[in-house]
Amino acid sequence: MKGMLPLETLTAGREVVNTEVTALLLLLLLLLLFTAWSRTNRSHIPGPSFLAGLGPILSYSRFIWTGIGTASNYYNNKYGSIVRVWINGEETLILSRSSAVYHVLRSAHYTARFGSKKGLECIGMEGRGIIFNSDVLLWRKARTYFSKALTGPGLQRTVGICESSTAKHLDCLQEMADPSRHVDVLNLLRAIVVDISNRLFLRVPLNEKDLLMKIQNYFETWQTVLIKPEMFFKIGWLYNKHKRAAQELQDEMESLLEMKRKIINEAEKLDDDLDFATELIFAQNVGELSADNVRQCVLEMVIAAPDTLSISLFFMLMLLKQNPDVELRILEEMNTVLSEKGENIDYQSLKVMESFINESLRFHPVVDFTMRKALEDDNIEGTKITKGTNIILNIGLMHKTEFFPKPKEFSLMNFDQTVPSRFFQPFGCGPRSCVGKHISMVMMKAILVTLLSRYTVCPRRGCTLNSIRQTNNLSQQPMEDEHSLAMPLRHMQVFQRYRNIPWPRLYKCAKKPIN
Ligand code: HEM
Ligand SMILES: *[C@@H]1O[C@H](CO)[C@@H](O)[C@H](O)[C@H]1NC(C)=O
Ligand SMILES: *[C@@H]1O[C@H](CO)[C@@H](O)[C@H](O)[C@H]1NC(C)=O
Ligand SMILES: *[C@@H]1O[C@H](CO)[C@@H](O)[C@H](O)[C@H]1NC(C)=O
Repeated sequence: MKGMLPLETLTAGREVVNTEVTALLLLLLLLLLFTAWSRTNRSHIPGPSFLAGLGPILSYSRFIWTGIGTASNYYNNKYGSIVRVWINGEETLILSRSSAVYHVLRSAHYTARFGSKKGLECIGMEGRGIIFNSDVLLWRKARTYFSKALTGPGLQRTVGICESSTAKHLDCLQEMADPSRHVDVLNLLRAIVVDISNRLFLRVPLNEKDLLMKIQNYFETWQTVLIKPEMFFKIGWLYNKHKRAAQELQDEMESLLEMKRKIINEAEKLDDDLDFATELIFAQNVGELSADNVRQCVLEMVIAAPDTLSISLFFMLMLLKQNPDVELRILEEMNTVLSEKGENIDYQSLKVMESFINESLRFHPVVDFTMRKALEDDNIEGTKITKGTNIILNIGLMHKTEFFPKPKEFSLMNFDQTVPSRFFQPFGCGPRSCVGKHISMVMMKAILVTLLSRYTVCPRRGCTLNSIRQTNNLSQQPMEDEHSLAMPLRHMQVFQRYRNIPWPRLYKCAKKPIN
């Protein structure tokens, strides 16, 4: 009967032809609709109101304009650790409570991701590759190839390649320096990391700089199209630029793969342990994987580290500068381990280094959240989950709100005691976790040790992590257009040679920038 009320008042209002009254009545109508909606309690999960359809539009807009990461933090901070919002009209839950996050991570019901279909098609990820592939059968098949390449006996080889690639790039730093002898540290790290990925997984000669630019543009497109509405893909002048950027990297991969096929065909005998690209090419030859899928898998393997690891390392170098006592402790530890073991560093025993890496991933993560989709009805701690619901796991916020003694500060104390795994998940866990989680730790340690034993970074004065502009759309990244990333990488007096000099003097940056 409540529905009658606004109609009656409307007829009454018609006699007084007054815009103000009409506006007031419309407002009343909205209010009524709202109360009617909230009484039906369609969903008892906290979150913004439906507001007769306005709520979904508002929350979707927030995700589009501020980025997925920033919007997720906003909603969790406002409504609590389980929030219901809408993305593109679809119900989406944002979870930042560790028990709920852990449940989803380990469950087999959430092995798909969500994202705009058209957007994923644009970047070649719809039903292909691994990262956003939600065709569960194809994803599982791809994942076995990634797992094989990223875990197991290859790790010792990884260390050697990381060390030599880092050393090689440090040897020709001058080539990367600008006229004032500053080096863009993020670019340097990207170059190191893409070289490592190539030497591990692809092994073809390539133009690093050109490839890195294409990877960067592909990433931009990825975060632009990921949750865009259907409409976006019809607007040529908006969309074509992104389509082109995605296509460029795909074409580049195709030609690298072509080169790889040639190398394989011309080789008299292949190594016993085949690299990732070779395994995929063979899988294609026997009809196991399609050519498009092979290209996408290789593409994703090549972009994975430059998009995540290099930026993590960049944040770590910044954090080191802001925490000189930590740098000192790390150098001391490196020195001890090095003098005990001779030339080969025992990475397992670098405990301070590991705490530092963990604390950096906690305090300033690159991957702040991860996107999933419920494949079955489920119940998370009393909250009913309907099949098809989108899920955002806000792991970054989880790391700053639970368990740690100094959650809002950067402090190695946070890892003084063993952290139960459900409170610390920088790579996720379970069936859809980061398939590169183990190799990443090895790579970060090897690169950091090689770099820190020769150099230290000195950011421009006043340049801290907080002062660098960053986005948090798909992942947390420094904005590229700024010059602030160019930091002089100065010689730290080579510590192996001056092992007996007291630490404070060793640590001091030498006056002269790189020669
Ligand atoms: C510091 C470095 C890295 C961080 C913090 C990181 C973090 C993550 C996270 C949080 C996910 C999502 C997991 C989930 O949904 O539960 C992910 C997925 C993934 N990561 Fe990493 N990652 C890193 C480096 C790497 C590297 C070096 C590689 C490969 C060489 C890699 C390959 C992948 C792949 C293929 C996926 C998708 C897995 C799937 O959907 O099955 N990651 N990563
Ligand atoms: C509202 O939600 C509560 C809690 O889940 C439930 O017990 C109740 O039946 C719901 N009421 C209606 C009218 O759906
Ligand atoms: C990412 O988010 C920032 C705001 O934090 C915005 O200015 C930028 O345009 C977004 N980038 C993309 C590619 O969506
Ligand atoms: C660092 O985190 C990993 C989990 O990603 C954990 O296994 C390891 O024990 C942690 N190391 C230290 C020193 O806390």
